[in-house]
Amino acid sequence: MKVLVVGSGGREHALCWKLAQSPLASRVYCAPGNPGIEGLAECVDLAADDVAGLTDFAVREAVDLTVVGPEVPLTLGLADLLAQRGGAVFGPSRYAAQLEGSKVFAKEFMRRHGVATADFEVVDNLAAARAAATRFGLPVVLKADGLAAGTGVLIPRDEAELDDALAVLFTERRFGTSADRVIVEECLTGEEVSLIALSDGKRLQHFVTAKDYKRIGEGDVGPNTGGMGAHSPSMVLPEAQAAGIAERMLQPVIDGMAAEGHPFVGVLYGGLMLTAEGPRILEYNVRFGDPECQPLMLRLESDLLPVLRAAAAGDFGAEKLTFNDQVAACVVLASAGYPGTPVQGEVISGLDVAVDQTGAELFHAGTSRRSDGSVLAVGGRVLSACALGPDLGSALHRAYALADRVEWAAKIVRRDIGRRVLLAQAGRVAE
Ligand code: AMP
Ligand code: GLY
Repeated sequence: MKVLVVGSGGREHALCWKLAQSPLASRVYCAPGNPGIEGLAECVDLAADDVAGLTDFAVREAVDLTVVGPEVPLTLGLADLLAQRGGAVFGPSRYAAQLEGSKVFAKEFMRRHGVATADFEVVDNLAAARAAATRFGLPVVLKADGLAAGTGVLIPRDEAELDDALAVLFTERRFGTSADRVIVEECLTGEEVSLIALSDGKRLQHFVTAKDYKRIGEGDVGPNTGGMGAHSPSMVLPEAQAAGIAERMLQPVIDGMAAEGHPFVGVLYGGLMLTAEGPRILEYNVRFGDPECQPLMLRLESDLLPVLRAAAAGDFGAEKLTFNDQVAACVVLASAGYPGTPVQGEVISGLDVAVDQTGAELFHAGTSRRSDGSVLAVGGRVLSACALGPDLGSALHRAYALADRVEWAAKIVRRDIGRRVLLAQAGRVAE
């Protein structure tokens, strides 16, 4: 089979790493890919949002399956275009991708299909937003409707922060038309967990749980990022409860999409908050989480390709995901300035000696290779160091050891990935 992976991040590197191991894969392409992917797949010089170019390429090269990593091409209708041209694609249609592309769509969908989520109101002006915020009380959560690369959620804690947030959304219009409509919702408290599942349009198969660390700063402070680290299992949700949550909180999406005439084929990612009143969906994504994908691929024992192929054909049949019982940890190496404007263009050293242990992988994201062979840090999130271990402590130890062997001047790493969970575990053991 010829497989095309779309995207260029750590998630896509991990997907290529896993798919290239499949005996069914005769050829793996990645568009546009990155320097880490070069050794596993043929990188194709097409941007991930060039949906017409990607479709032409898949048709011309007779690609048997296209696997879409990021959300933008999905919201632009890549899956629809490919399907129109007879291509098999693992990724939802433009309609279904609105679950991630429009927070208003997602919240109204959840309300329509009875999924537990934070109470909310949709507003389109400053005065209405303030009135809704007053109704919910502070802190309150404000979300720009459209895609904002993970930065469109503001959580003002007091009146001054509320004034600032309303100004950002409605006066400065920092999120542009993404904030034409805004969700105002109740602020929930609890542990966050990511539950990721594959769908063939009818049924779901969920992955083991994962937890990511979204804030830039240690101790979970500072602005949200795409994710600075992750581990699987989540350690905050017993694995035995995952199936029930998938049934109650993810399956209604699959059933609802099918009932609305838009079967959902692809990855459904539930971002959950485990509140005292039970789990609530904070958001859906229509793709693998990054960095959650990396530890999940390390834990995936079964061949991924036949499962994705079966899903794309509309029926899992007998294909199943199976997992090892180890713990996988992932630490993101970013460049100073992220999630704002990162320092760019520094040479990364230590890449050649970085990986010399089995069960550890260094995945590339914001890297670029120069003609002299050296590799530069050119993005916010640059690399992710991932490792397996018999327990979280040893998986983290190995992931950090790998992260520490790679250097560039602006490198930043959160040193506390998994720490709070480990401490809680130690407390439980000590009790
Ligand atoms: P989202 O893009 O909707 O996942 O929001 C990004 C982050 O904002 C989440 O990972 C949470 O940490 C936080 N968040 C979103 N919605 C809420 C909420 N209703 N209550 C508390 N925190 C939230
Ligand atoms: N790590 C969270 C996300 O991919 O949205």
